[in-house]
Amino acid sequence: MNIITEINKELINTFEKAGYKVDSIELKPSARKDLGDYQINDCMSLASTYHTNPREIAENVVKELEKNSIFTDINIAGPGFINLKLSEEFLIDNINKAVNNPKDLIEKQESKKIIIDYGGANVAKALHVGHLRSANIGEALKRLAKSVGYEVIGDAHLGDYGRPLGFVVKELKERYPDLPYFDENYEGDYSEVELPISNEDLEEIYPYASQRAKEDDAYLEDGRDITNKIQHHERGYYDLWKKIVEISKADIREVYNDINVDFELWNGESDAIEYQDKLDEIIAEKNILVESEGAKVIEVKEENDKIEIPPLLYIKSNGTISYETTDLLTLLQRKEEINPDEIWYVVDSRQGLHFEQVFRATEKLGLFDKEQMEHIGFGTMNGKDGKPFKTRDGGVMTLKGLINLVYNSTITRINNDKVTEEEAPEIAKTVAIAALKYADLVPYRETDYIFEVEKFTDIEGKTGPYILYTTIRMKSLLNNAADMDKSKITKIEDDYKDLVQLILDLPNIINKALKTRSLNEIADYLYNICSLYNTFYAKNKVLTEENIERRTNWLTLTKLTYDICSILLDILAIKVPEKM
Ligand code: ARG
Repeated sequence: MNIITEINKELINTFEKAGYKVDSIELKPSARKDLGDYQINDCMSLASTYHTNPREIAENVVKELEKNSIFTDINIAGPGFINLKLSEEFLIDNINKAVNNPKDLIEKQESKKIIIDYGGANVAKALHVGHLRSANIGEALKRLAKSVGYEVIGDAHLGDYGRPLGFVVKELKERYPDLPYFDENYEGDYSEVELPISNEDLEEIYPYASQRAKEDDAYLEDGRDITNKIQHHERGYYDLWKKIVEISKADIREVYNDINVDFELWNGESDAIEYQDKLDEIIAEKNILVESEGAKVIEVKEENDKIEIPPLLYIKSNGTISYETTDLLTLLQRKEEINPDEIWYVVDSRQGLHFEQVFRATEKLGLFDKEQMEHIGFGTMNGKDGKPFKTRDGGVMTLKGLINLVYNSTITRINNDKVTEEEAPEIAKTVAIAALKYADLVPYRETDYIFEVEKFTDIEGKTGPYILYTTIRMKSLLNNAADMDKSKITKIEDDYKDLVQLILDLPNIINKALKTRSLNEIADYLYNICSLYNTFYAKNKVLTEENIERRTNWLTLTKLTYDICSILLDILAIKVPEKM
């Protein structure tokens, strides 16, 4: 149900009856509430088509509008802007439909199957803030897409096959040369070998090994060689790599779980490797592989390119496959195993060129059309210096570290009258995650933003805690009114007319979010609806109102507002604590 699109259709008829043919008309919330709740500006552009002045068109249209009972208070302002209100009866009718079925405010779309690739955490390496953005935006887009009826499969697509893993194994070999994994004569079952390594160890080893590889050529050579051995499934090395993946994956799952992110598929890059032969065959058939300085590449530049698009590196000169190739393999795997209509990649905008190369090559191979693959890029979370957010000593900020920073702020803001000392840590964590996630979704996704912990955790302002606080308060009000009627609205009073109209505008917000692949509209909407509700709540003593009809109207409105907040917070994958 979307009353605005319904009205827009109705308006096309109205304009036609008045003698003007139009393809679309837009009923907009008015910028001048003193003149009307909504406005129609289309007479202005029609004036040039009909070689007449806009005011005359507006006058003719108004004559027709007046015959329609859903419009009231119709007037013309300036050179030809039409202002109007929707009749109370029409609003009551529609708001009660929403009361009965709030989920119907989200319009269903024609069904399609989408894979969303929004994990990308790298094995043996701590998740960082970039992974937060992928996961946070991706999970919300997935839930949004599901809410309109798409079939959606989220894939973690863990980075488990790149060169850095070769270095981790190299470093393990340095530190533990006696492990059976490095013993060529070992005949036992590697899966039974204990590895004296925790995830924390891996997170320490990874940067250490990458650094050493930069400084020490022999080390670098060995690391490359080991990567090659892993990629060619050499006994021992391959088994050790599998063990590392297992240890790291368990930790990665936990971190994603902490931020309310889950995947239908927990695949990694390496899961597509079994498609290597098949991909080689397709590539041979198309005859598009070119030798270049010992490497094998696929040319992807096009005539009209404004910037230089380099060839896609398929096999490196040392025989290992590139990051691009892991994506090609995964696309083939997805084609064969799932055959989706679309694939969305929620990945840092800075990987734009990578995806352009991969998409072009994929189309050349006849796997998917370019329109079926979409890179949904995002900007960076920056520090106050305008550069990607770092730790105090300039290191990469891990996701766990970031959550801790926010937690240290939310724990000080817990209301000690409501929350016991034992309950506080868990509640502060839920609020911290909400604060972080909400702040990350407020800006349009491609916009960089600055990490400001005090601002994000403030209970006032456009913040996660403000939305949670308002939602909890509505819930507690509803609990206190457990046996009171909240089933219908019989009157639209001025105190809450804006709120009703905002609620009825939700379908448009959902559509915009879907279209832009950005959650900022929804984050804003949550803030607006909470603000309007709080203004209303401050004015009216809902629970103790003696006029039963009024009380029922107010409670029903509270329930509907609460339901909408819950639905939208669930789309954003933000959890609401019982109290805070
Ligand atoms: N693992 C990669 C990284 O951390 C991100 C992977 C993004 N997804 C993809 N299909 N390439 O940069």
